[in-house]
Amino acid sequence: MVKQTIQIYGRIKPTKKNTTVYSVDNEEQTGAFLEFLVPRDLADGFVNNKRECYRFRFLKVFDQAVEQEEVFENIAKPVADSVLAGYNGTIFAYGQTGSGKTFTITGGAEHYRQQYGFTTHISYLEIYNEMGYDLLDSRHEASRLEDLPKVLIMEDPDQNIHLKNLSLQQSANEEEALNLLFLGDTNRMIAETPMNQASTRSHCIFTMHLCRREPGSATLRRSKLHLVDLAGSDRVSKTGLSGQLLTEAKYINLSLHYLEQVIMLCQRRNRSHIPYRNSMLTSVLRDSLGGNCMTTMIATMAVDRRNLDCKEGLHTESISTCRFAQRVALIKNEAILNEELDPALVRHTHTHTHTHTHTLTALHQSLQPPFKPQKHAFMCQSLRPDSPHISRPKIDQQMSCSEN
Ligand SMILES: Nc1ncnc2c1ncn2[C@@H]1O[C@H](COP(=O)(O)OP(=O)(O)OP(=O)(O)O)[C@@H](O)[C@H]1O
Ligand SMILES: [Mg+2]
Repeated sequence: MVKQTIQIYGRIKPTKKNTTVYSVDNEEQTGAFLEFLVPRDLADGFVNNKRECYRFRFLKVFDQAVEQEEVFENIAKPVADSVLAGYNGTIFAYGQTGSGKTFTITGGAEHYRQQYGFTTHISYLEIYNEMGYDLLDSRHEASRLEDLPKVLIMEDPDQNIHLKNLSLQQSANEEEALNLLFLGDTNRMIAETPMNQASTRSHCIFTMHLCRREPGSATLRRSKLHLVDLAGSDRVSKTGLSGQLLTEAKYINLSLHYLEQVIMLCQRRNRSHIPYRNSMLTSVLRDSLGGNCMTTMIATMAVDRRNLDCKEGLHTESISTCRFAQRVALIKNEAILNEELDPALVRHTHTHTHTHTHTLTALHQSLQPPFKPQKHAFMCQSLRPDSPHISRPKIDQQMSCSEN
């Protein structure tokens, strides 16, 4: 088991304007610091009556000039390596609208390219206005949102979460996986808002389900990698949204509130009850937040002037994103190696042992006194695939989010 707190990184979106309101100090040993400096006398006659310096600690902060490749090497590669080894992984981006979450998670369409070759199952879930949709339904290419299959959350008696109607698509190589990402992105809810021309108005979870078999071994390792692009918080009063955009913003803010609530409670030593069930997002990310997963968060920040809070001259949104990240950094996860006996092999062994037992029984029945092959019968029982000692995979049409 690997016990690890959620790893937090920061990323500043590039801006053409010269900004001196923040500074980044990436020190190898002590981690990195991001500092927001707010002068007493602000432009436009505003005066800052609050603190002048806000300092936040991250593992590393990627400043404006840092390219996607470097972000990938530092953040995504270690997570991908653990997923390949058999642990669950999650990378999620959090930040205000327009701060670069979607860009960071997807790299922008021009970065979709082939690098490795591996086979996996993929699902792409969209949570829009608290409803789940399957973005990879092949019958509904580029369709309207209402036409996409609705994904429902089901809970089994052991309180494991299952997502009904979320398809799992096998991809034989990276090109197929990228096509699925592209198909899902085409189906996402995107709208133009005052803060972002192509604002993604939903939470999206692109999941790779990997299955790895050690050569010559009877065990399988199953792991999942969630790439989570959250919808950005909108300050409704500031951006003057109305109609559908306002409804969306209310749902987004409410689900981010529930996410924050779960994070607040997860960081406590005594985790008696965590209200994961309050929202679909927290239900699906249950493993990632305080469970069986290695989780990394990227806090994205935009530092243009228009992102300033006009009244106070503060980077209020960036500061609250950093505060959120500091709380996330306190959450301890316990990732385990998701190893199980290969059910196919177990079935084979069962049949084989069964036949062997029958042969022995027949042989011994012909002898006197009658022979009872109890030991073999016990072996048969303990190797049955439905034995409670053997966990079976749940790769049907559902995505399993059980805490192992
Ligand atoms: N590191 C970056 N380098 C270059 N362009 C970027 C970078 N980050 C973001 N952008 C650009 O900034 C714009 C807004 O970014 P993006 O759509 O990723 O924001 P977001 O946080 O996902 O916003 P929302 O919550 O509204 O969906 C996009 O045009 C994107 O291409
Ligand atoms: Mg987005």
